[in-house]
Amino acid sequence: MITIRHMFENDMDDVFDVERRSFKIPFGRTLITNLYLGAPELCFVVLDNDEIVGFLLGGYTSLPRQSHILSIAIKEDVRGKGYGRKLLRHFIDNCTKFAYTSVKLEVKVDNTRAIQLYEEEGFHIDSKIRKYYEDNTDAYVMIKHI
Ligand SMILES: CC(C)(COP(=O)(O)OP(=O)(O)OC[C@H]1O[C@@H](n2cnc3c(N)ncnc32)[C@H](O)[C@@H]1OP(=O)(O)O)[C@@H](O)C(=O)NCCC(=O)NCCS
Repeated sequence: MITIRHMFENDMDDVFDVERRSFKIPFGRTLITNLYLGAPELCFVVLDNDEIVGFLLGGYTSLPRQSHILSIAIKEDVRGKGYGRKLLRHFIDNCTKFAYTSVKLEVKVDNTRAIQLYEEEGFHIDSKIRKYYEDNTDAYVMIKHI
């Protein structure tokens, strides 16, 4: 059974484990904890039978009433089952409740799987940032108005 709930500080080991398995250059554990502490009300985990199989780290931007998806990942062995979409929708529903009017994220320009998901969920490509990532790849900035 799948459940989505707020992230807690003692979830950090599991969250970091999903993060480091999902990205070539993952955020460090300390950074993840600090990002979580910056906006705990915007951070969520997905559980499959009580096991954390995914997470979304949310935060703010410099714009008022704009939230920011800092990282989202689902464990590789359970991808493609709809968990990522559910988590994204859950986050957006919460943003709506808290009167945010837009959501922003950055995504690698070659991450077609994630881009497809974001477009299907109403995000559009707003701009491109050259060499945004540590490996010098470019990012799309994607925005959804809510
Ligand atoms: C991006 C990610 C979070 C999506 O999570 P997920 O649980 O696999 O996604 P879902 O099962 O909800 O699928 C949502 C959509 O993603 C796309 N998708 C899923 N599997 C796909 C695949 N194998 N190939 C291409 N697109 C795919 C489809 O658009 C899919 O919608 P559909 O099933 O209606 O066709 C997950 O792939 C992931 O953790 N990737 C590694 C980390 C990452 O890149 N995070 C994003 C950083 S910006």
